Amino acid sequence: MERLDKILSSQGICTRKEARKLAADKKITVNGITVRKTDIKIDPENDIIEVGGKRVEYKKYVYIMMNKPKGVLSASNDRNAPTVIDLLNDDYKRNGLFPAGRLDRDTTGLLIITDDGDFAHRFLSPKNHVPKLYKATLDKPITDSDKQILEQGMTLRDGTKYSPAKVKTTNGCIVEIEISEGKFHQVKNMFAFVGKTVENLERLRIGGLFLDKKLSHGECRYLNNSEITAIFNSDNY
Ligand code: URA
Repeated sequence: MERLDKILSSQGICTRKEARKLAADKKITVNGITVRKTDIKIDPENDIIEVGGKRVEYKKYVYIMMNKPKGVLSASNDRNAPTVIDLLNDDYKRNGLFPAGRLDRDTTGLLIITDDGDFAHRFLSPKNHVPKLYKATLDKPITDSDKQILEQGMTLRDGTKYSPAKVKTTNGCIVEIEISEGKFHQVKNMFAFVGKTVENLERLRIGGLFLDKKLSHGECRYLNNSEITAIFNSDNY
């Protein structure tokens, strides 16, 4: 059993505040009966919810976009440091949530948090090549030959191989770079290979899903169906 307002917000239908207003306006029914309060507990798998006459198709799993701040770990729990899951407020908290993929502790930007293991597996699988776009602020501007090296791929001294990256834009020390692997410290290591230190790193896009600029650091929101699909569809970029 779950609160009606929490169900509606987790399904990406409306915020909890909007749900209260919709209920006050007699726009929400549960099993055909108009409800005036949204703190009632219902069974989302069996009860029929309609908003403005339209049935809510209940999705079992949730998908949350977070603008990850610096200083928190992309992990579910850690004894010594705060994690992205610790940052979630009660609206989002539920069992089984974990970050799909990792950003370094000092990296900010787009992170997806879900409780859908199959989705995460599909998303992280190297064979799906979901590209990720990062904005890196470097200590020095990159040169044309650095760009060529980054776009050819490289093998580090320890044998780690990185596939070719795409350098999308460069503006002095700020470089937008896209990679389709997600190896540990990959962007920082690729720039280090060409003698540059990444001073700031932000993830801007995953597949066709952009970071919502309205989210400040530490804030999150639920993804809707078309945004979830967009993750696997980046043909236009
Ligand atoms: N590459 C990095 O070096 N760090 C990140 O957090 C993500 C990609």
